[in-house]
Amino acid sequence: MFDVNEIRKDFPMLVNRSDLVYFDNAATTYKPKQVIDAVTGFYTGYTSNVERGDYETAVRADRAYDNTRSVIARLINCEPREVAFLSNVTEVLNQIAYSLGRDLKEGDVILTSKAEHASNLLPWFRLAKEKGVKVEYVPVDAQGVCHIEDFRNALHEGVKIVSLAMVTNVLGSLQPIREITEAAHAAGAVMVVDGAQSVPHMPVDVKDLDIDFLGFSSHKMCGPDGVGVLYGKYEHLAKMEPLCLGGGMNARYHSDGSVILKDAPIRFEAGTPNIEGVIGLGAAAEYLMSVGMENIRAYEADLRAYIAAGIRKMDHIQFFNPDNLNGPVTFNARDVFAQDAAGYLGSKKICVRSGNHCAKILHEVIGTDQTVRASLYFYNTKEEADRFLEACEGITLENAIGIFF
Ligand code: ALA
Repeated sequence: MFDVNEIRKDFPMLVNRSDLVYFDNAATTYKPKQVIDAVTGFYTGYTSNVERGDYETAVRADRAYDNTRSVIARLINCEPREVAFLSNVTEVLNQIAYSLGRDLKEGDVILTSKAEHASNLLPWFRLAKEKGVKVEYVPVDAQGVCHIEDFRNALHEGVKIVSLAMVTNVLGSLQPIREITEAAHAAGAVMVVDGAQSVPHMPVDVKDLDIDFLGFSSHKMCGPDGVGVLYGKYEHLAKMEPLCLGGGMNARYHSDGSVILKDAPIRFEAGTPNIEGVIGLGAAAEYLMSVGMENIRAYEADLRAYIAAGIRKMDHIQFFNPDNLNGPVTFNARDVFAQDAAGYLGSKKICVRSGNHCAKILHEVIGTDQTVRASLYFYNTKEEADRFLEACEGITLENAIGIFF
């Protein structure tokens, strides 16, 4: 296991703002100096566009950019040609829905759940409206978990696509993706996985899971903002139509309107990409692998269990996901509006998120669309957990109103 105090020295935000307890890691994460150095190294040493220049700095930028494909391939166990860089997991899921949607016909079914983030629902809703396909929901329990028997019962021959988060963003529900994928494939459906809240926190092996597609975002795994990874089995990517057309991704086009695209994954990267972001993501993934994804999973599970044990003891707290082992701790203080509670914690320099967290039909499962979410990462500590728990003791209606910064 790693030494968290050594890890913390790598993160300037943890050093410079040691007054804060940062528990909003499901929204975005802090960046280690290795990532900052990779980005500034590009800005100060070899700024150039990629795949376009024949001079020394451009070639260096090409190599650094393409190297991230290999690093990500190692992280999730795929081939570099199965990795494309988009702008975030939202764009990735839109790309997948656009491409797969072209082959769907009226009445075909997309199976998802009510615990999903908007980005894994709205692209499918649009297909429903435009193509007459149906969106159906696999049941989840009160803590957002989809049980394999329920999944098997929800599956039928009309289901062409299953799209689920591996770990959900509000309740941290870890879905049995391998078993779900096996059942989906047996029924002839394609398996799409939103890995935004799993890839940063645990080993994810796309070959072992046998999933067809995976999306995840750089900023939630210590990398820069503005980069999302599209993983797809090459057999799928090779025949998929890109959402965006433009420079870089075409091989030829002619005045008669005919266009020949480059092969995947380049065909999904129209226009100048986020070069420094991709280079920074490579450094972030290297950093996470050097800490060890299994170490990160185990450390966070232990810290989460510690916090959960403290929260369970508080009579004034309604705890929505006490039994989930991963992801955020999500709760409300009785009679206190979630945003007021978050503001109160903020006044104690504890950073959490409140509201519906972009999962706007989850209220049909948990009965409220306003919760407080404390989300951890491997650089958080038990001391921070203690500060958080002590502050949670004080979330009362009297304390939580009229907080001004
Ligand atoms: N999707 C991010 C979250 O859950 C922003 O907070």
